[in-house]
Amino acid sequence: MQSTLSFLALLVSAVSAVPDTRSFSLVADTFPDFSACLSQPSVYSCENTTQIANTCCSPTPGGLVLQTQFWSTWTGLEKQGQRLPKGSWTIHGLWPDNCDGSFAQYCDASRQYDPAPAAGVTPYTGPGVDSFILEFGRVDLLDYMSKYWINQGAPNKDFWAHEFSKHATCTSTFDVACYGSSYKEHQDVINFFDAVIRAFHQYPTYDLLAAGGIVPSNKTTYSLSQIQNTLKAQTAALPYLGCTHNGTVLTEVWYFSHVYGTEQYGTYKTLDTTTASTCSSTLPIWYYERTPASEHEVRTLP
Ligand SMILES: *[C@@H]1O[C@H](CO)[C@@H](O)[C@H](O)[C@H]1NC(C)=O
Ligand SMILES: *[C@@H]1O[C@H](CO)[C@@H](O)[C@H](O)[C@H]1NC(C)=O
Ligand SMILES: *[C@@H]1O[C@H](CO)[C@@H](O)[C@H](O)[C@H]1NC(C)=O
Repeated sequence: MQSTLSFLALLVSAVSAVPDTRSFSLVADTFPDFSACLSQPSVYSCENTTQIANTCCSPTPGGLVLQTQFWSTWTGLEKQGQRLPKGSWTIHGLWPDNCDGSFAQYCDASRQYDPAPAAGVTPYTGPGVDSFILEFGRVDLLDYMSKYWINQGAPNKDFWAHEFSKHATCTSTFDVACYGSSYKEHQDVINFFDAVIRAFHQYPTYDLLAAGGIVPSNKTTYSLSQIQNTLKAQTAALPYLGCTHNGTVLTEVWYFSHVYGTEQYGTYKTLDTTTASTCSSTLPIWYYERTPASEHEVRTLP
């Protein structure tokens, strides 16, 4: 945190010392080159009626996009400061399912940064993806991810690397070729992390539920239809809800969508889940309060 603050102090003094036009030169661009997409027909992913010729312009295959989130009550690394954000669910990822609901994973061995990947994939042992973020001067991004993208039982950076290597490498709009000849190594990683956060902002699950009177409680339970109706009322669609303990403890939500344009900057159209809920439709469902020492306030400046 100390290093974050001194970096910010440096940034502030740099910004005030130079004219506006130069003040952003500290932060490297992580934009892909989508200028070629301007001559392509724009469509919602999975809704094209002709071939999508340039896969940098729309996620293809993998156009059924899922923004996934967790509700957990502990991290297991509280002593190291890894805690959950008060008043918010946490980010899981942004997944490119195929239009029929099937999916691919670990699509590019040259961008495999996951230290604990699926069987058959070589574990990564190099520098953490947090160091990639700092290479681009994106302290703001690292700070946000450290607050809202939380792992259980292992460091957050391992989880971020897992999500990129397993899913973003199968999302065509993050292909290295989309970044053109000026591609800088890891630019796609930073661009993906920004895109995940942008998608996450569309679905503030904690607030959506609280607005419907559904708040974490170790005394009161809720019904599946109550939870579903509350989320559907604000997103126009039924998300997937995941439960453990024989369908009685709420732990996950997946929002399904088609995206108009790219996953990075396009517009998401939320759709009903194609996966049946693992929550019981008859038993009461617990939406547990967190262990007090496992969460912290992140909504105010330090
Ligand atoms: C949509 O585009 C993809 C990629 O070009 C193609 O495989 C698929 O057949 C297209 N769908 C239709 C209905 O043309
Ligand atoms: C699920 O239900 C079965 C049968 O009632 C029970 O034996 C089992 O312990 C339950 N599992 C959990 C995780 O609660
Ligand atoms: C609520 O219950 C869950 C599950 O048993 C537990 O992990 C958590 O610590 C409890 N929270 C509070 C505030 O009692």
